[in-house]
Amino acid sequence: MSELDQTYWNQLAQVQSELSQKIINDPWRLTYHQMPVTGWMNDPNGAVQFDGVYHLYHQYVPDNPDGGLVHWGHKTSTDMVHFKEEELFLSPDKPYNKDGVYSGSAFVKDDEIHFFYTGNVKNPGDHDYTFSGREQNTVHVVSKDGFTIELEEVVIPHEDYPEGFTDHIRDPKVFEKNGMYYMVLGARALNHRGKILLYSSSDLYKWEYEGVFAEGEKEMGYMWECPDFFETEEADVLIFSPQGLKATAHQYENTHNAGYYLGKADWKKLKFNSESSFKELDSGFDFYAPQTFEDESGRRILWGWMGLGDTTPEYSNPTVARGWQHAMTLPRELSVENGKLMQRPLKEYEMLRDNHTDVQISLNNESAAMEALNQKAFELKVTIDSVDSNLSISLKEDTVLSYDNKVFTLSHGPSGYGRSERSVEISDLHTIHVLADTSSLEIFLNDGEHVLSTRVYPKVEKDRIHFTGSATLFAEKWDLNPSI
Ligand code: FRU
Repeated sequence: MSELDQTYWNQLAQVQSELSQKIINDPWRLTYHQMPVTGWMNDPNGAVQFDGVYHLYHQYVPDNPDGGLVHWGHKTSTDMVHFKEEELFLSPDKPYNKDGVYSGSAFVKDDEIHFFYTGNVKNPGDHDYTFSGREQNTVHVVSKDGFTIELEEVVIPHEDYPEGFTDHIRDPKVFEKNGMYYMVLGARALNHRGKILLYSSSDLYKWEYEGVFAEGEKEMGYMWECPDFFETEEADVLIFSPQGLKATAHQYENTHNAGYYLGKADWKKLKFNSESSFKELDSGFDFYAPQTFEDESGRRILWGWMGLGDTTPEYSNPTVARGWQHAMTLPRELSVENGKLMQRPLKEYEMLRDNHTDVQISLNNESAAMEALNQKAFELKVTIDSVDSNLSISLKEDTVLSYDNKVFTLSHGPSGYGRSERSVEISDLHTIHVLADTSSLEIFLNDGEHVLSTRVYPKVEKDRIHFTGSATLFAEKWDLNPSI
């Protein structure tokens, strides 16, 4: 049934080996983040822990750093920190997925993993591929080990989707509730509204349409991608990636966004009722299409794509010239606390800490420096006692984190390759926790109340972190050493 012939695979291997030559000496290769071996990476897919092993699948174009025909790449880990590259898990080699094995999720039942993904098909002809010409089939894959496939079949063919929608219906995420299985799918309605569709099943094999689980008013965008739903003690959480939100001061400033509602699902009416405003999960430049899963110890863990589509001409990634593009964020542990969704870097990453230094700093319109011989991969934790007027922290080559007038701002100079400024309003700032890698920064504020993720491409790094302003704080730094 394979539609990708040997010539395709030979060419892919040939291009991959050319790209690996470009990559060898790239100092911007990340040291403790997941990234493509060669080529392009986007959304996390099928995240799961099965028999003790963590599996991270992802959208992957091994032979083109600018994207193209997507496969599912595959990485495994036993500690969530050190990952092993595995063979491609799924490839666009069937009539129902021939233009891309798009995003999807994993669900464990008994001794099997059930994957659900979108098979993307573009039919030839004069089409716009939104209102005509595209099929997005929901496909079910069963595996007993996460590596080999027992069964792969279309469970919802494109033509069975409900009326009133464009061709864009995709990204299945499956969960269990009250002895039933449910699937949410992201959709673009004909009236240009983003919606989330709900399907149900008693066996994971046959699915029935139940209606619209959640939908937005006009200002919530025209398409909702990558829906995700989970329950916590305090609230139910509905995550999705809306396209077409209007930027406001310090909100939705990226081309596309990713965020959540807290609320409650009504399992009689099969509707999600939001009880909060829509909040962004990340206020930085590079974050989209996150996916969560519950691990065997019961933690709710989120992976995000540390990248974004359609950012040019505003900003770009110079690694394209070096044969690769994009990465995953660090996995984050989620919890709902006092009406807020908190995100914290997984504790496991503390195992990489090396060479601890700390300093107590008291500034009165002046500047202080902390030695930072290694600015490539490090962790910085700043505990703030008080900010009298403002505080700014300069790190890497030309990146500045500042807090002034209740606004926290991340700004880059030329090393941002077009990334200028992103801000978040925060009335009282207590902690700034930075995880820096060779070409990325993830900044957690107030113990995970806000996060900003960004890619950054320094050429020469300073050997000091500078603090300026009027503030009293305690700063701790560790090198992060991936060979530990
Ligand atoms: C989100 C997304 C998904 C789709 C996938 C294709 O980034 O557009 O909606 O399944 O990427 O790569």
